[in-house]
Amino acid sequence: MAKFANITGWGKCMPPAVMTNDDMATVLDTSDEWIKSRSGISERRVSHVPVSDLASVAGQRALAAAGYQPEDVDLLIVATCTPDTVIPSTAAHVQKKMGAANAAVFDLNAGCSGFIYSLEVATAMIRAAGYKRVLIIGAERITWFLNWSLRDTAVLFGDGAGAVLVEPSDEECGLLASHLGCEGDALEALLLPNFGTAGNRFVDDYAKFDVSFDGREIFRRAVRGMAQEITKVLDDLGLSNDDIDIIIPHQANARIIESLANHLSVPMSQVALNIQNYGNTSAATIPVALCELLEDGRIKHGNRLLLAAFGAGLTRGAGMIRWGDRVTPLAQSDAELPPCDQTALEIMSEAIKHTG
Ligand SMILES: CC(C)(COP(=O)(O)OP(=O)(O)OC[C@H]1O[C@@H](n2cnc3c(N)ncnc32)[C@H](O)[C@@H]1OP(=O)(O)O)[C@@H](O)C(=O)NCCC(=O)NCCS
Repeated sequence: MAKFANITGWGKCMPPAVMTNDDMATVLDTSDEWIKSRSGISERRVSHVPVSDLASVAGQRALAAAGYQPEDVDLLIVATCTPDTVIPSTAAHVQKKMGAANAAVFDLNAGCSGFIYSLEVATAMIRAAGYKRVLIIGAERITWFLNWSLRDTAVLFGDGAGAVLVEPSDEECGLLASHLGCEGDALEALLLPNFGTAGNRFVDDYAKFDVSFDGREIFRRAVRGMAQEITKVLDDLGLSNDDIDIIIPHQANARIIESLANHLSVPMSQVALNIQNYGNTSAATIPVALCELLEDGRIKHGNRLLLAAFGAGLTRGAGMIRWGDRVTPLAQSDAELPPCDQTALEIMSEAIKHTG
């Protein structure tokens, strides 16, 4: 069995419709100034298609970058908390759309930590069970779930997908150490109570999606939880903060990211930050940021990339990647989303009408 699991392909798919903070202020009691200063977000994308479409395009782009076809994939993991359907998994829809007919498939729901959880699972399955080409896709259509009358959550999230292909390797690269956890005692801090089998589907307000959300509590726990997991990862590898080349944190709030960088004494120039363009896309934030670092030529062979995330659960995780030798894609995919002829506000108009 291989000792290491290298990332050899990457791709992203961001839906085209942009909702700016000013757009939001036309339907909510909020402002560009408030959203930017409290979260760092300027705009986000709103998907006109199901999450499996975003995932399928991102997945095909990652496969092309690694020089493979969909039928070469033997395991497909979709990290999402906004599935197309509960039965079957989103991964099954993605398998069908991509034509990845030879893949075992499953969804992994660890909220915004889903990508790090999936990378640990994929690495372990390559090392212990002999899988050869594992496609991980972090994909979310969170705007579909938002209650557009709740300004504290509606302004924070967006849609998108990012994917990586992971393969066995003899070189010391890929995910070298990771730690995952969950603070279930605080799960009410981010909870969608009226959806799922714990609820009564025959009452009128079922599926109204009035998310229960305690932003301050999550903020506090996020910085502390990520810092704890990072310390364990660095200790495992015998490394210090100085050995980190780039931090790729979950993008939930620019102030959380700055606090983390401060805590680690790593300058913001070494931290991936794209929340201004996309908001919080949950399990997609880390793979999308990774893709953009590669597109910008910021990742070199041998770089140490520290991932850190937290999310609904309240899950948390950190991992250290040593980057392998591929920094340019082998090929480009021609996969595209169906065209979108609506503005973001038009896509959301029905949801806004029903919850406003
Ligand atoms: C949500 C978050 C941006 C709020 O920032 P904050 O500085 O803690 O702001 P507060 O919650 O203290 O709210 C301050 C005020 O702004 C108001 N407010 C909340 N949302 C607003 C909005 N969209 N526009 C304008 N005002 C808003 C509040 O009502 C409150 O008013 P009050 O002081 O009169 O009560 C921040 O706590 C956060 O990012 N939390 C973590 C993010 C997260 O949980 N992501 C999901 C999990 S990964």
